[in-house]
Amino acid sequence: MADWVQGDGQHLADVLDGGLSVAQADSMIENVVGVYGLPMGVATNFRINGKDYLIPMVVEEPSVVAAASNAAKLFRHGGGFQTQSDAPVMIGQIQVLEVEDLESAMQAVLDAKATLMAKADMVGGSIVRRGGGARDLTVRAIRESAVGSMLVVHLMMDVRDAMGANAINTAVEHIAPDIAELTGGRVHLRILSNLTDARKAKAWGTVPAGALHHDPSEAKRIIRGIVEASAFAEEDPYRATTHNKGVMNGIDAVVIATGNDWRAIEAGAHAFAARRGSYTSLSRFREDASGDLYAEIELPLAVGIVGGATRVHPTAQLALQLLGVQSAQELAEVIVAVGLAQNFAAVKALAGDGIQKGHMRLHAKQLALAAGAPVEMVAQVVDIMTREGQIRLERAKELVQQLSHTTE
Ligand code: MEV
Repeated sequence: MADWVQGDGQHLADVLDGGLSVAQADSMIENVVGVYGLPMGVATNFRINGKDYLIPMVVEEPSVVAAASNAAKLFRHGGGFQTQSDAPVMIGQIQVLEVEDLESAMQAVLDAKATLMAKADMVGGSIVRRGGGARDLTVRAIRESAVGSMLVVHLMMDVRDAMGANAINTAVEHIAPDIAELTGGRVHLRILSNLTDARKAKAWGTVPAGALHHDPSEAKRIIRGIVEASAFAEEDPYRATTHNKGVMNGIDAVVIATGNDWRAIEAGAHAFAARRGSYTSLSRFREDASGDLYAEIELPLAVGIVGGATRVHPTAQLALQLLGVQSAQELAEVIVAVGLAQNFAAVKALAGDGIQKGHMRLHAKQLALAAGAPVEMVAQVVDIMTREGQIRLERAKELVQQLSHTTE
């Protein structure tokens, strides 16, 4: 375990060792029988918009935290990540069926737009008091479906520092009766959309060729390999899915650490990746005019720093404190940068030796420890097993015995 964890007193250790009591869990969901633990690590080296961050990551997969940290170090040589994000605007949908005259119903909704938005603000509570609230209202027709035509109303609402699911759901439920009256139709579903494409975050950055390899021709070869991998993911949905899974390794880990809804983020990310009708990669890598590697990524990221599990879960609170983010937008921008770092690390490894080499070293380390190797012997056992290509528990045990004798 990292030193800073041990050095910070009993309270911190309690929070980090399990994080959530059964009683707290019982207040979060139903039929609670226990608490399920996952490892939480901290990724280092992240510089985002000129500010340094420590990144809490909750993930069960080995290598993810180390890979993010290594990638962030390389981007740091190019000044770190730059980011941008949309205002935290959520979309709420209202489905309207059995509308006799679609055109005049749409017009009636548009004519009442200001009143409807003001009515939505009436249930906005603290979000409206903090400067959020309804931002727009649109309506469109779906002319043919399995159940005939329908209208779809979208309410756009700035939810400030919340993820905003409750706020937007409350708002669309509140204005739904007015929509029914204005359109003469029957209002059916009233729910947020997880395709939060009014709430995107993007990150970009450069890894200087010299940071990739001291030999310029080798650096050029590495960059070419990464750009080729990017082109594959941009064009092929089978590869894009795996490429984006690598992005989500980083994104989900921070989303989970901060108590946010990772299913919502996953759903939005993949829908966004398919927005042009064919599934593609969320990121792109190119060689820039100076011969360095340029990387960029964009996706919807509806995350909050208040409300929901972010408030209830002690470890999520701690994760937010560690990050030191001041707004939901800042959190989204950190998360998107982590996604780009994670993706870069995977693609770089795949375009180089492949990922198994690193994985096998980690596996060998776990075997060495399982075979009883003292900490100071682990690296030696790992080196020998990797060199021999014999990464097995039996071999680890033999080596631990042999090396113990030679040091006696
Ligand atoms: C493994 O968790 C993620 C990767 O498969 C991502 C990728 O292929 O880009 C390595």
